[in-house]
Amino acid sequence: MTDLLRPRAIGAPLERLDGPDKINGTARYAFEHPVPDPLYVHPVQATIARGRIEDIDVHAAEDLDGVATVLTHENAPRLATGSDAELWVLQSPEIAFRGQLIGAVLAETPEIARQAADLVRVDYRREPHHVVLRGDDDALYAPEVVNPSFAADTRDGDPDGAEPAVVVDATYTTPMEHNNPMEPHATIATWRGGVLTMYDSTQGVHQMRSRLAPVLGLDPERIRVLAPHVGGGFGSKGTAHAHNALAALAARVAGGRPVKLALTRQQMFALVGYRTPTIQHVRLGADRDGKLELVTHDVVEQTSTVQEFAEQTAVGTRTVYAAPNRRTTHRLAALDVPVPFWMRAPGEAPGMFATESAVDELAEACGIDPIDLRCRNEPAVDPATGLPYSARHLAECLREGAERFGWAGRDPAPRSARDGDWLVGTGVASATYPGYKMPGSTATVRYRDGRYEVRIGAADIGTGTRTALTQIAADALDRPVSDVDLELGDTALPTATVEGGSSGLTSWGTTVVEAARRFREKFGHDPADGDEADGAMPEEPDEQRYAIHSFGAHFAEVRVNADTGEVRVPRLLGVFSVGRVVNPRLVRSQLLGGITMGMSMALFEHSVLDPQFGHVINHDLAQYHVAAHADVADIEVSWLDEHDPHSNPMGSRGVGEIGIVGSPAAIANAVHHATGIRVRDLPITPDKLL
Ligand code: MOS
Repeated sequence: MTDLLRPRAIGAPLERLDGPDKINGTARYAFEHPVPDPLYVHPVQATIARGRIEDIDVHAAEDLDGVATVLTHENAPRLATGSDAELWVLQSPEIAFRGQLIGAVLAETPEIARQAADLVRVDYRREPHHVVLRGDDDALYAPEVVNPSFAADTRDGDPDGAEPAVVVDATYTTPMEHNNPMEPHATIATWRGGVLTMYDSTQGVHQMRSRLAPVLGLDPERIRVLAPHVGGGFGSKGTAHAHNALAALAARVAGGRPVKLALTRQQMFALVGYRTPTIQHVRLGADRDGKLELVTHDVVEQTSTVQEFAEQTAVGTRTVYAAPNRRTTHRLAALDVPVPFWMRAPGEAPGMFATESAVDELAEACGIDPIDLRCRNEPAVDPATGLPYSARHLAECLREGAERFGWAGRDPAPRSARDGDWLVGTGVASATYPGYKMPGSTATVRYRDGRYEVRIGAADIGTGTRTALTQIAADALDRPVSDVDLELGDTALPTATVEGGSSGLTSWGTTVVEAARRFREKFGHDPADGDEADGAMPEEPDEQRYAIHSFGAHFAEVRVNADTGEVRVPRLLGVFSVGRVVNPRLVRSQLLGGITMGMSMALFEHSVLDPQFGHVINHDLAQYHVAAHADVADIEVSWLDEHDPHSNPMGSRGVGEIGIVGSPAAIANAVHHATGIRVRDLPITPDKLL
């Protein structure tokens, strides 16, 4: 690949360029943009899980002082196409899940809008609903593909006929979980002169525009989306959701006034996607030396009746372990529930919990150390594609982690260590995540007043994109970081792909390097004012020649209270292979965050769906516990010193998601080591240990 880059800024632990703005409050998030004379929107949501609105009475709401309009399916503007069912809001009286948007109040203050929304009276015709995922549901079906475009099923050899000497056969389950970024989903929409302008909290301004445009019947050029700062997303802001369409409809009727819509935390639990619950049947078979002969991973999960989203739960298993006999399958139940969507490492996060727990069970059954067993099963080429890996350093991660963690000399017997009332155990698990690169971005470089302006409509969702991409641009232009001004987060800038699948910096960085290369080709090192060049992301033949994945090894120490079952996690360590690290400060932060979220998944997160009413009852941060500082003790991360020659011009790979992959299994395996109890059902709550 290109040797254009001389890494100087790349590799430096630069502080976030927008850090001071964020600390002093001048960095504006979606809802904070000053707009003149706004109206505030409060949604009305369905209170049944399936049926139809027979009558909707808005008189009391409309009569409230300060209410401008109440929108329902009876008076809302018509959307241009019904082909995007999740965004088909206020177009019909049908109810497909509890919490569905059925109306909206526009008012002079948020308080009035909320009060009026409570005054809307709805008569429903209820129909029976199905909201509980069951492995034996008659209506399970095989999707055509799983997210984003993997085959639903794979098969090698004879997975049903194989008879290995040692077999582990177990079912693992993970619950429904919800993304809870610090900044709730929010939009300001203004529809004036046939142009819709939105300040939105999104992981992709261009994706927001391209999905909304056909629904609204607008030429994409007539929509502008801005998102200069975003307070987290974890996947939930990776696309438009129903509230974005609702905000646009509200703006349509607001007579040119801006409308402001901020979802409440409780509303987010019905409207912005979530991780599907999974039921995963895993069989691993090996010879007495622990060499795998059989791997099957059969997944049951849910989608909605509104729109299909098929999580790729077994896809990580396809690349991490080879065996002559393998099978992976995905089966879906379409339930009367909200549409599931991306949540940090969709697929790999729940899937590798099952696989890496099963590998621990297999190691125990074989009487082999779980690190040894993993190293004995390192494949020479990618078992999913047959391609060589650009860099598969999983065994190095495991060995270096073992060294740092102090794994040697561990007594593998469960319940072998006790400290007073606390049972102490350690566990390990592997992580893998694909090195996605999304085609379709462009960038421009312009020279003016001694400075280089780099423009690309990328997203910084709190990850530090603005800083890392500036470092990449500086090296590509062979200039110091202080000479580069990066602009992002606006559809008025060149098109950028979504911040998703840990693909952002790879995709945009490659694009910026290409624009810089063209700029330097045209203007050399001594450009004149106004010189400008653009670049599109080049075709990368290496992507077809190599399997590009990141890897990692997680180590956990847990203490389980023998009387109460309380689990504490005094120590977590992750060692990763992620290619060259563009900014160690930011990468460390991403990996720490991913591992913390993995701990949260292991011990806490569980959206409890009420089967009778069909909604998530613990729909706020008081009841849905996300790991907080008090839960986290010592987390250490490190990475191998490497450079992936095939991934991108920076030699880097994505880091946003791999931290959450495998960390729940490392904790579950440590809990088993501490207690002798194998918890196959997340989260690992105290009742499961008594
Ligand atoms: Mo990530 S779940 O692709 O934002």
